[in-house]
Amino acid sequence: MPGAVAPVRDALSAAEDALRAAGCDTPRLDAELLIAHAMGVGRERLFIDADGGLQPAASRRAMELVRRRVAREPVAYILGKKGFRHIDLHVDRRVLIPRPETELLVELALSLPSGARVHDVGTGSGAVALALKHERPDLVVSASDASSDAVEVARANAAALGLDVRVSAAVGLPAGEFDMVLANLPYVREDEWRSLAPEITRYEPREALLSGEDGLDAIRALVAQAPAGTLLALEHAPARAADVRGLLRDAQTHLDLAGRERVTVGRVP
Ligand SMILES: C[S@@+](CC[C@H](N)C(=O)[O-])C[C@H]1O[C@@H](n2cnc3c(N)ncnc32)[C@H](O)[C@@H]1O
Repeated sequence: MPGAVAPVRDALSAAEDALRAAGCDTPRLDAELLIAHAMGVGRERLFIDADGGLQPAASRRAMELVRRRVAREPVAYILGKKGFRHIDLHVDRRVLIPRPETELLVELALSLPSGARVHDVGTGSGAVALALKHERPDLVVSASDASSDAVEVARANAAALGLDVRVSAAVGLPAGEFDMVLANLPYVREDEWRSLAPEITRYEPREALLSGEDGLDAIRALVAQAPAGTLLALEHAPARAADVRGLLRDAQTHLDLAGRERVTVGRVP
């Protein structure tokens, strides 16, 4: 029937069922986020308007978004954004979706003295560097990535957020003097790849995740390249914490919110 409107409540249930059948972990939440996005409203509006109608144009948009999610595209890529600490970042398939455990890297730099120079290696969307600059505008924050696509995304995020963070293209650590270097470099082992969720293997950039046979190639290369004495904070797989401590002097490992050994801080020997 032209112009017919389906109740929002029914559209939500149908989307939730489709997403559950497709194997999505959080089908209700995803359905709410996608339908709210298709309607151009905040998620809270869905509960107020649950008995209201979903207009045909919004319904078509919602169906397309749900179809993408059924193919296991991550919600963050479909919406084009991801929250990280207190900022929203644009994300797309050129960059890794920032993970909550990476917020620990930002926290570890918050106690630096005013004016300290901090560099984020492998910045991706710019998440770590931009969240840090947002919370500590008195620090001098810079960032780099080996991927020119990522550099573009991070620069666009810095501009959109009005944050003064210089982003450059570089493999490993660019030349410069830094009081602390933060890095969430790739750390997935090659043999782990096939066991990862389809959201990751089908959509996220492989080069942002994979790091050789034991998952330590990128971290080892950074430690080998950085000048002796450089203070590094390295995110890593919990199972690799002891190996990473072994690469550094005065190393200390910090736990993420789930209690796993996630970031090791120490100096380059
Ligand atoms: C795991 S992602 C992390 C992105 C971002 N830091 C975050 O936490 O959301 C790793 C990033 O490091 C970059 N990268 C990989 N190897 C690199 C290297 N040797 N030097 C610099 N960047 C590298 C990738 O392009 C990717 O953007």
